[in-house]
Amino acid sequence: MITLGIEGTAHTLGAGIVDSECNVLANELDMFRPPSGGLHPREAANHHADVAADVMSRALDAAGLGPEDIDLVSFSMGPGLGPCLRVAATAARAFACMRNLPIIGVNHCIAHIEIGRALTGCRDPALLYASGGNTQVIAFAEGRYRIFGETQDIGIGNMLDKLGRDLGLGFYAGPTIEKLAKEGTEYHELPYSVKGMDVAFSGMITAAVALHNKGVPLEDIAFSVQETAFAMLTEVTERAMAHIGKKEVLLGGGVAQNSRLRDMVEDMAHARGAEMFVPDRQFCRDNGAMIAWLGAEMHNSGVRMTVPETLVRQRFRTDEVEVGWR
Ligand code: ATP
Ligand code: FE2
Repeated sequence: MITLGIEGTAHTLGAGIVDSECNVLANELDMFRPPSGGLHPREAANHHADVAADVMSRALDAAGLGPEDIDLVSFSMGPGLGPCLRVAATAARAFACMRNLPIIGVNHCIAHIEIGRALTGCRDPALLYASGGNTQVIAFAEGRYRIFGETQDIGIGNMLDKLGRDLGLGFYAGPTIEKLAKEGTEYHELPYSVKGMDVAFSGMITAAVALHNKGVPLEDIAFSVQETAFAMLTEVTERAMAHIGKKEVLLGGGVAQNSRLRDMVEDMAHARGAEMFVPDRQFCRDNGAMIAWLGAEMHNSGVRMTVPETLVRQRFRTDEVEVGWR
């Protein structure tokens, strides 16, 4: 069975194609980069509408397939930005209706876990899901994926991007901050905000901008921000692993592309006799292949949806989904 998955929760419109063994046959995407300032949902949605058909045909071409070879269509039903979600859903419905195919709307956060499980071989991990909009520690317990810890304000990626904007580093600042941090030498203290298994980041932006105004070099600011924020994430991940007794930790989300975060989580895992897993970078960020794979798993476990049941859900919680496929 061949599944086409369409991702469109935020700035990325992705189309991926997988077979029933999670061989990824294609994983194409087009990311919206706002001309200035932050991400405006309506503008991102217009971008997605402009590129969706092209990204989908690029995926078919890359897989060497035609529309007639697709057996199932899935798409990211939420959580995410309403206008963006509706574009991905519309593209998926149009393709499914045109070819009279089954359609399944999937939870984007769970897709990050399932692609990681399928591609890295871990079995029952705690997932540290660190992206722009989301920062959560998720694990499987009693038939559902449950959130054990999360950010109380903004996602870590949004924190990095907002800080990047305030420091004049441009949008999508994560990679730039990572590069700068490698040159940083002096650590400056920043708010370390951990409450139980939750974290908060907004105070860090104010404090980092204050360092900048005092003339602290960007490299040292980037270094201090990474050390502090990633230590917070590592701490809550470790606490969740201890609490629920998981011996594996999986990284997902765009910020999981960061080598320093990977190293810190890996050190923590080894120190407690656990193992860390992280999929290839293209499967950490938002992508269509993970949506396709979760759709395939759900369909295989008997899930069916009618088109009216595919309404998007901006606040779709991870623990609302009954997991029948594991
Ligand atoms: P979601 O919809 O799941 O919240 P998203 O729309 O934020 O995801 P992703 O591609 O998962 O999309 O993540 C993008 C975020 O990852 C951005 O905030 C970006 O700055 C950050 N990022 C990308 N590369 C790196 C890196 N090397 N280091 C740190 N952050 C990074
Ligand atoms: Fe994501």
